[in-house]
Amino acid sequence: LRIIRKVSELDLDRSKSIGFVPTMGAFHEGHLELMREAKRENDLCVVSLFVNPTQFGPGEDYGKYPRQESTDFEMARSAGADVMFAPEVSEIYGEKTTTIRVANVTDRWEGEKRPGHFEGVATVVAILFNIVEPTRAYFGLKDFQQCAVIRRIVEDLRYGIELRFVETVREEDGLAMSSRNAYLSPEERKKAPGLYRALQNAAQELRQSTKDASTTEGILARHREELRASGFSVDYFALVDGATLEPLEYAQEGGRMIAAAHLNATRLIDNCQV
Ligand code: PAF
Repeated sequence: LRIIRKVSELDLDRSKSIGFVPTMGAFHEGHLELMREAKRENDLCVVSLFVNPTQFGPGEDYGKYPRQESTDFEMARSAGADVMFAPEVSEIYGEKTTTIRVANVTDRWEGEKRPGHFEGVATVVAILFNIVEPTRAYFGLKDFQQCAVIRRIVEDLRYGIELRFVETVREEDGLAMSSRNAYLSPEERKKAPGLYRALQNAAQELRQSTKDASTTEGILARHREELRASGFSVDYFALVDGATLEPLEYAQEGGRMIAAAHLNATRLIDNCQV
């Protein structure tokens, strides 16, 4: 595994196919799965490790986001990564005057709850794509709306990159793996799988229920209430179209349940197929 800090040192062999895994580090099995998949499908697996300041809002966890570079390097090596691009902030952002804003799919949910977040994600991903020039790029489906945003960037800005969205890796009790799970106290950790359970139960009920808006809203409202009663503070719990992220009135092909909720200071997001 070669560790590279400067764009000028990133002398990738362009005759080879490049599978790119953009990350913010603090690796878990979900990241490693993306790397293994990238390695399976390409000659080279290139990983970026960059805690991107522009996608964190004021008062969010940029300062305390887990940083464990040397452990991450070892984990990436064991997953078969060839190159780790781990730049300083100044290497990525110069004057910081260009921002990419993706319309429509960012209007709601994470976009609404975290103003500026997707501009930060879109801008850094566009910059990293231009630096790495990958054949394929790999993202985890846990950040479902982020996947939709990246799909729009690649289509709208004509990046000739194949996107691979990889299934969420979960703990045994169903909790989606996330670097932020490290923030959970033992008690919160016990409650945390409740979010995915609620998503799955809602998805199943919606599949089996009458197809009308008020029945759907009734099911969603009951699950929001149950989550609140078990200690979550719910940002959103919704049935959406998986491509546009617009709310759906009832379960249909391509539907997705998405949710974000806090357990005290820790914010969890998750989703499941409908
Ligand atoms: O999903 C992430 O870890 C980040 O949002 C990404 C895509 C690496 C951009 O900073």
